[in-house]
Amino acid sequence: MNAELETIAQKMVSDGKGILAADESTSTIKKRFDAIGVESTEENRRDYRELLFRSDEAMKEYISGVILFDETLRQKAKDGTPLVSLIQQAGSIPGIKVDAGAKPMALFPGETITEGLDGLAGRLKEYYDLGARFAKWRAVIDIGAGIPTPGAVAANAHALARYAALCQEANIVPIVEPEVLMDGDHGIERCYEVTEYVLRVVFGELYQQRVALEGMVLKPNMVVPGKKARTQASVAQVAEQTVRVLKATVPAAVPGIAFLSGGQSDEDATAHLDAMVKLGNLPWKLTYSYGRALQAAPQKAWSGKAENVAAAQAAFTHRARMNSLAALGRWSAEQEAKKAA
Ligand code: 13P
Repeated sequence: MNAELETIAQKMVSDGKGILAADESTSTIKKRFDAIGVESTEENRRDYRELLFRSDEAMKEYISGVILFDETLRQKAKDGTPLVSLIQQAGSIPGIKVDAGAKPMALFPGETITEGLDGLAGRLKEYYDLGARFAKWRAVIDIGAGIPTPGAVAANAHALARYAALCQEANIVPIVEPEVLMDGDHGIERCYEVTEYVLRVVFGELYQQRVALEGMVLKPNMVVPGKKARTQASVAQVAEQTVRVLKATVPAAVPGIAFLSGGQSDEDATAHLDAMVKLGNLPWKLTYSYGRALQAAPQKAWSGKAENVAAAQAAFTHRARMNSLAALGRWSAEQEAKKAA
């Protein structure tokens, strides 16, 4: 096992730190900018991400690594400093999204397969030279009538494992992200069942493809009911069911698990992580790799205006700090103390 990979993977999930997912594709960031009335130009995307990476306290204290989109990895700040250097100067690790998105899967109506394996070895070499030390690939599993099917789960798990193998050969730590979506009206039990199945198949494929578990980070969904489900779950239920499914499927050799937020509210994403960490007795680190749950607040505060940069940085720092406390299992105690004061 390559010691460099192990060291990076451990750093990504070090105590009280988590990952900022700022790797929205051009079409996704446009959606986010539309919501705050900002035009998605290259310059606006740069200005926005620059303000995040220049949030000193957040980046130094709470953010172990940042997942970037190809454009950002090559972009320079307004003063000419590469954005990658801003991240490195804060002691955080630059990472890169390398999948080409989830596309409709032939002969599997309603299901997708994530593309991007062609030419990946060459791209990883270039990304390493540009400073990326970890990567991300997201497989998307939807729950609905008759889906997911074993065929689609197998294809996605195989692609994830091939991606992870290519990363490790290029000295890049793979974030393995099989996301079971929380769209739909299914209950928490169905989410548990599908998540268990998906994780079992994924770890089987990782083994077949010779991926060293010590040199990867898992990025799963939490076990939650669908957003349209009639019965929602308590924080304690989500924490118990998520930890239960992870203990049943994720080998202890994996150094850390960094959750996606997947459309949960900011506060839910924080409360769920905190409750899981507090359960204790876990073989791996648990932390965050949030996109929306770290960025919704700063995006709204910024709204594309230079005079709002400080407010946006404060909003980002606040969410990062709350999630850092959650990763240490100290968030709810601090909330209680604040209320009492
Ligand atoms: P969310 O936290 O918004 O789900 O994004 C995380 C991510 O990187 C999804 O691939």
